[in-house]
Amino acid sequence: MSETFFYTQIGTDIEEAARWLEAGQCVAIPTETVYGLAANALEPAAVVRIFETKNRPAFDPLIVHVLDAAAAEAYAEACPPLLRRLAERFWPGPLTILLPKRAIVPDLVTSGLPRVALRAPAHPLTRRLLVRLSFPLAAPSANPFGYVSPTTAQHVYEQLQGKIPYILDGGLCAVGIESTIVGMEDDALVVYRLGGVPLEAIEKEVNTPIAVRSHSVSNPAAPGMLTTHYAPRKRLLLWPSADLWPTSAQESELGLLLFRRRQQLPPHTRCIVLSETGDLAEAAQNLFAALRTFDSADDVETIWAEQCPDVGLGRAINDRLRRAAARKA
Ligand code: TXA
Ligand code: MG
Repeated sequence: MSETFFYTQIGTDIEEAARWLEAGQCVAIPTETVYGLAANALEPAAVVRIFETKNRPAFDPLIVHVLDAAAAEAYAEACPPLLRRLAERFWPGPLTILLPKRAIVPDLVTSGLPRVALRAPAHPLTRRLLVRLSFPLAAPSANPFGYVSPTTAQHVYEQLQGKIPYILDGGLCAVGIESTIVGMEDDALVVYRLGGVPLEAIEKEVNTPIAVRSHSVSNPAAPGMLTTHYAPRKRLLLWPSADLWPTSAQESELGLLLFRRRQQLPPHTRCIVLSETGDLAEAAQNLFAALRTFDSADDVETIWAEQCPDVGLGRAINDRLRRAAARKA
């Protein structure tokens, strides 16, 4: 049974966060991608609390957050040169690397899988916390299972207040979309989840095209990548062509999620523009907050979402929109 807390505090006190974590409790932490729900990764009793608090099924493994590549060595067996190179290039940052796990990592963290997911986050507060602690932090995104990830401390508070004692407030997440997950199969790099490091940036670094295998009820390597995920409660439909208004665009109770500003908008619809100028990084940063805004708007019943150009961060944005659409289509 997880405890309930009378009061969930929001603050920037590293010591306070560290004390709760040392006591085996969960604390929400800021990262440059999204907020995480963290606990001592080496302590199964603490890790169990993460699953309970999120309502997360035990088959969905957790990312272990470390300060840097040197710290990661304690939790993974030998790192293939290609993955080492990616860590050197993109850490600290929005890249998660799957490596054969060492025995010190509890099976609970990896859901019994042979690999552990490791990431060095870039947010300065969480880096100071990791320096302060004597253990790494297991942390999934700090949202109830299946829902949109939080990108502000307030988002976390709205859903987890009373369930965790402390939220470390690092402001709005700079990237706004989860990390890219990468690993190796038969000596080839595979991307298991599109995310904050664009596929093209990885391909450029290793000078070779990389397979993406992210759709995956049928992908045991990344069991958490369910087709329906990252989903608001309301129905979300993908807007098939940027040149056509949705046929139902005249309906009231429609929320339009636009990638960029348009000259003309249908009357009587609510509209959120992810980036006035069509900048992919800005759109990624605003995406999850926009979905939450529509989800809590009384005058919106259905969300129509425009897809981004399918390049760079646009691929990850489109991936999240497709998963959000899959549930309620
Ligand atoms: O940006 C992020 O990655 C954020 C921040 C907090 O670091 N974390 C995050 O965690 O998005 P989560 O749990 O919401 O998504 C992690 C994904 C899950 O789909 C899980 O299945 C996959 O990573 N994963 C974790 N450990 C794995 C493992 N050992 N083998 C395969 N997939 C793994
Ligand atoms: Mg998540």
